[in-house]
Amino acid sequence: MTLARVTTVVLLASHGWWFVQEKVLLGLPMLGLAGTIAVSVAGRQLRATGSASPAATPTGSVVWLLTTGYAGLVGLLVSFLAGYPLTWSTALLAGSVVGAGALLTARVVATRGADIAGAADGSPATADDDARAEPTPAPPAYRGPAVSRRRFVSLAGGAVVVGMGGAGVGLVFRPGESVVAGGGPPDPSRSRSAVSVADLRGAAEPAPGGARRRYDLRARTATVRLPSGQEVEAWTYDGQVPGPSITATEGDLIEVTLHNVDIPDGVTLHWHGYDVPCGEDGAPGVTQHVVAPGETFRYRFRADQVGTYWYHTHQASHRGVRKGLYGALVVTPREAWPVAGAAPAAQLDLTLPVHTFDGTVVLADRDGRAEHAVPAGTPVRLRLINTDSDPHRVALAGTPFRVAAVDGRDLHQPGEVSRVGLHLAAGGRYDLVFVMPDAPMALVLDDDPNGGVRLRPDGTGGGDDPAGTDISGWPELDLLRYGTPAVIPFDADRADRHFTIVLDRGVAMVDGRPAYAQTVNGRGHPSVPDQLVAEGDVVRFTVVNRSLETHPWHLHGHSVLVLSRDGKPSSGSPLWVDTFDVRPGQVWEVAFKATNPGIWMNHCHNLPHAHQGMMLRLRYDGVTTPFGDSHGKRSGHRH
Ligand code: C2O
Ligand code: CU
Repeated sequence: MTLARVTTVVLLASHGWWFVQEKVLLGLPMLGLAGTIAVSVAGRQLRATGSASPAATPTGSVVWLLTTGYAGLVGLLVSFLAGYPLTWSTALLAGSVVGAGALLTARVVATRGADIAGAADGSPATADDDARAEPTPAPPAYRGPAVSRRRFVSLAGGAVVVGMGGAGVGLVFRPGESVVAGGGPPDPSRSRSAVSVADLRGAAEPAPGGARRRYDLRARTATVRLPSGQEVEAWTYDGQVPGPSITATEGDLIEVTLHNVDIPDGVTLHWHGYDVPCGEDGAPGVTQHVVAPGETFRYRFRADQVGTYWYHTHQASHRGVRKGLYGALVVTPREAWPVAGAAPAAQLDLTLPVHTFDGTVVLADRDGRAEHAVPAGTPVRLRLINTDSDPHRVALAGTPFRVAAVDGRDLHQPGEVSRVGLHLAAGGRYDLVFVMPDAPMALVLDDDPNGGVRLRPDGTGGGDDPAGTDISGWPELDLLRYGTPAVIPFDADRADRHFTIVLDRGVAMVDGRPAYAQTVNGRGHPSVPDQLVAEGDVVRFTVVNRSLETHPWHLHGHSVLVLSRDGKPSSGSPLWVDTFDVRPGQVWEVAFKATNPGIWMNHCHNLPHAHQGMMLRLRYDGVTTPFGDSHGKRSGHRH
């Protein structure tokens, strides 16, 4: 078993130090030390007694063999409960547990050894004793006169075990650092004088020539009837799921007044993927107070980014978004999207948020399959938005297509592809474009032939049903190798700051309570240190997934450029994303330029994971918040 452990560690080590640190520094040394002693002691003693009977196994051998077992077990527990990074506290606690196990075993074995010795000496014996004691009494060195030495050893050992355990527990309660600077204190020339997020608000006017887009969203509970007849007890914006689509043309002013009618948790609007000024970001306890029932909040920002985005509540979002507090945000360019020869009116542009209500998949506003008649030759754009906490698989059957945009940002020279599946991360978006063929085509979701969307050319009722195509074997399109390279606006190799984010499960404090948490560098929100940056910094993240679940990583207020995955550089179009799926065992390198001052949530977009601790904040030097509470007492923000 020890050999198997060593092999695993060697294999894992090739993926990076984060995967093996605690095993190399603690687990294996503990196991190796106990195991070596066990082999030498047991080997010597067993040869000395010359018998294979278990009853004759000398005390020392038993104790060391079992201690080796404890060391192996504790090493595994450290990996599962504590993980990366290894702390002194964990090391001390682990050592003391193994030590305590060894001492207890020694005590039990010694007592038993004495009984056996007594039986062999002719004192009254049971049949059981006979069976065990008959072959060979323990050798003299292991009974009688050794008691005082044994007593001394167990007293001293006990003291060491208690000391280590006490120190380990003590260190657990030592307050950890509350800020990490990712490679040095802020450059004073880049630090700004203090500014509150409350003052980082959006523009009051549209860009010249732009319009005002006013929306009123009333957050309320509602019973929503889906097209299939199924009813959902939902939390909604305006009584519908999804909430009303918010649309604008580049340069318009978006002004949304949010009213909370009766959402008991409170509600906000977070503009997912939209790099709004921080005061409009909708993160309760950080950029605003939560909007309680009866209250309102007005969001206002310029539609400077073109593309497909979405909005959702950020208050207890693992519950609120799941229950229906989400909708689409789509901004189109001033010039209609260019397809040679097509008048804008002749295009089909469908916005398709995907959401799962108690196992029922709802695409846009319907469960079951949607049908549209489209004249052949019509340019089509499908805007897919994953509003769930798990990834979806998307495929287009019956037509070649291009992935025009990912997370709202256009790709550079995306090539035509067909017969491929697309993996859409939780929170992520794809814009798929193609020209309507003269036969039916289908958007297939999660390989389910009964859902999705079917487009058929006008006038033709029949034709093959492409939704029936078996697409489960289609390969997954790798976006890191799709499209062609283009210039990027900064030098990612000369980052000013570099943060490592190791994702795992483990025992950690979450909102002031110990939990089997979803952890970031071994800690849970709000005890994960803030990442400190200064305006103008080039910032690099290394995101490592040590766990067995997928983590869609999402930074507010910025899109990040994907540099590499598992050490392989991105070689296609520059890939700018706001959410990227870090699958088990993967390591992603991403970078961005810090140009949007604020305090930004940085978290896993599997929202239950965020709720279970997988969340932290990226803070610009000099930016403060009046809405939360400072370090140590930040529990005002509940994701
Ligand atoms: Cu779409 Cu912090 O979230
Ligand atoms: Cu996660």
